[in-house]
Formats: sequence, structure tokens, C-alpha cells
Amino acid sequence: MSTESSHPPLLFTIISPNICAPMSPSCCWFLVFVAVWWLPLMLVVAEDQQRRDCSAKKCGNVSISDPFWLATKELERPCGSLDFEVTCNGTISSLRSSIPFNNGFKILNISYEEHSLYAIDLGKLDVLHANNSCRPPFPFYNTSSKLNHLFRIDPVNLNLILYNCTEEAAAGALARQDRGLVHTRMRCENKWEVLVRVGVPHDPSGHYASYALEGCAAIVVPVPGSSAGANASDYEGLIRDGFLLTWERPRKFTRKSSCSQVRR
Ligand SMILES: *[C@@H]1O[C@H](CO)[C@@H](O)[C@H](O)[C@H]1NC(C)=O
Ligand SMILES: *[C@@H]1O[C@H](CO)[C@@H](O)[C@H](O)[C@H]1NC(C)=O
Ligand SMILES: *[C@@H]1O[C@H](CO)[C@@H](O)[C@H](O)[C@H]1NC(C)=O
Ligand SMILES: *[C@@H]1O[C@H](CO)[C@@H](O)[C@H](O)[C@H]1NC(C)=O
Ligand SMILES: *[C@@H]1O[C@H](CO)[C@@H](O)[C@H](O)[C@H]1NC(C)=O
Ligand SMILES: *[C@@H]1O[C@H](CO)[C@@H](O)[C@H](O)[C@H]1NC(C)=O
Ligand SMILES: *[C@@H]1O[C@H](CO)[C@@H](O)[C@H](O)[C@H]1NC(C)=O
Repeated sequence: MSTESSHPPLLFTIISPNICAPMSPSCCWFLVFVAVWWLPLMLVVAEDQQRRDCSAKKCGNVSISDPFWLATKELERPCGSLDFEVTCNGTISSLRSSIPFNNGFKILNISYEEHSLYAIDLGKLDVLHANNSCRPPFPFYNTSSKLNHLFRIDPVNLNLILYNCTEEAAAGALARQDRGLVHTRMRCENKWEVLVRVGVPHDPSGHYASYALEGCAAIVVPVPGSSAGANASDYEGLIRDGFLLTWERPRKFTRKSSCSQVRR
């Protein structure tokens, strides 16, 4: 008996003193057998529970559930595709930008039935707040280039175009009263300034070629489809209203199936 009791599985040590002491040795063998048989399975289940609570969560008013999941500070295993990782700060939930060190998207709401969500491109607000800044190039990205391949900007949105123009190009474009162009606060002395136009319909080619302005770098930012006829001076409000995105489920991620196999 001494050799067996010197290496019993943990579980057996815990339950054996009460249950086994008055019983026969065959009972103990049976318990050893049961413990050895169940221990690996119990460890797997325990590890799975330690790994992550992947149930639906709320962040502010937004429900976060599969395929979306909430990031936590601990180095836990992800609950799903990294493309659907949501960070929650206070009541603000956001999706990351696919461009490193770039602000992502604030989520306004998610429709799980329609596979869609409304979001705000946070990077644009930061750029537009930095008025009178002559610091070297801001990250001035098209919203579409910040989205990973599973997200798509819905064609029902309209667009706003921000132009970073040289002083002469801006003066020229404004003099021509070019299709509702308006100044933003952003400028750098007489080196460059940022203009904006709104009400630009979705271009399936993604080129927006007819809206190009010579001497200006342009970026396209989706705004609500309901913004038709909006005043370009209200560009910040329009960006804050968010735009509609749709998503596709990630194909490869199989956590759910592996979990249910373990529990079965
Ligand atoms: C949550 O929804 C309520 C009711 O619609 C609203 O009053 C509140 O401002 C929302 N909170 C956030 C953080 O969006
Ligand atoms: C969370 O939000 C607060 C206040 O808006 C901000 O100061 C802080 O930097 C944010 N934290 C992270 C990790 O983004
Ligand atoms: C989601 O947010 C958008 C933009 O704020 C709003 O127009 C829409 O009504 C909201 N949808 C739901 C279901 O709350
Ligand atoms: C930008 O300018 C506006 C109005 O001119 C001012 O209220 C705001 O504080 C300025 N923002 C920064 C970051 O300097
Ligand atoms: C606009 O273009 C100039 C010249 O290329 C650049 O120095 C500046 O940082 C740009 N501004 C923004 C907001 O991208
Ligand atoms: C943004 O998209 C437009 C239209 O496709 C393109 O012409 C422009 O070069 C892009 N700008 C940047 C900074 O990628
Ligand atoms: C747009 O708004 C600005 C500032 O609020 C105002 O001065 C301008 O007249 C408006 N333009 C139109 C076409 O309503």
C-alpha cells in the first residue's frame, strides 16, 4: 500500500481519507482507477474554464458576442478571430485599425441579425482636432484602408472627402466654388490646409477619380446615408454620426467546436 499511496493522483488524495478508510483495498483500487481515468479530462475542462469566459458581454450599451469578443488585460487565450477583438474602455467599445499604431473605430451599435454595425473612425476626429499643427505628416488614411478584409463599408453610406492641399491648390479650388468645398480648422501657416466636401456617393471602383483635386492629397471617409444635403461645415458632426459596416464571419476559427467536444 505504501508505494501506491506515495504517488496518488491529487484527486484521489483529497477524497480517499473519508471514503476509503473503512473500506476494502479493492474499493481503493477502484477509486485510483476512476481518478486516473477522469483526471486528464477534468484538467482539460479546468484549463478550458481558466482560459476564458467567452460568453456575451456588455460594454456601455453595446452587446459583444460571437464573432465579436472582449479583450482583457491578462494574457488569456483569445475567444475568437483577432479581427473581431473589441476593447472596452469605460463605456466605449472599439475595434482596432488594421494599420498599426493607428486609432481604430468606436462601435455605436451592432446588429447580429444583419451582420452589420455602426462605427466612428476615431483617427479622423483626432486628426481634425489637431488644428494649427505644422507637425510632420499625420496618419491621414482612407477609412477603407483601416478595415480588415472581413469588414465592408456599406454602399448606403455617403462619403466625405478630406483634401490636404498646398496653399495655392486650396485657393484655386475654393475660387472655383468647387462642389461645396469648405475649409477645416486644419492648416499649417501658408504651407498646407485641409478642405472638406460632403455628399459624395459610394464609388464601387473605390477610386473617386472625379473628385480628385490637383495639388491635394485626398482621403475618403464614410458618413451616414442620411447626410445628403448636409452642410460641409458640419464635417465633425457627420463623422461622429458614424457609418454602416457589414461583416463576414471568420472561417477558420473553431473554438466553439473544440469546446463542445471537450465537454461532451
Ligand atoms: C445607452 O442608452 C441609453 C438609452 O438609450 C442612453 O440614454 C445612454 O446615453 C446610452 N449610453 C451610452 C454610453 O451610449
Ligand atoms: C480610456 O479612456 C480614458 C478617458 O477617455 C483615457 O484617458 C484613457 O487613455 C483610455 N484608455 C485606453 C487604454 O485607451
Ligand atoms: C445604431 O446607430 C446608428 C447611428 O447612430 C443609428 O442611426 C441607428 O438607429 C442605431 N441602431 C440601433 C438599432 O440602435
Ligand atoms: C482647435 O481650435 C478650436 C477653435 O479654434 C479650439 O477650441 C480647440 O481647443 C483647438 N484644439 C487644439 C487641439 O488646439
Ligand atoms: C499635408 O501635406 C503636407 C505636405 O505633404 C504635410 O507636411 C502635412 O503633414 C499634411 N497634413 C496632413 C494633415 O496630412
Ligand atoms: C484614398 O483613396 C483615394 C481613392 O481611392 C485614393 O485616390 C487616395 O490616394 C487614397 N489616399 C491615401 C492616403 O491612401
Ligand atoms: C454652412 O454652415 C456654415 C457655418 O455654420 C454657414 O456659415 C454656411 O452659410 C452654411 N452653408 C449653407 C449652404 O447653408
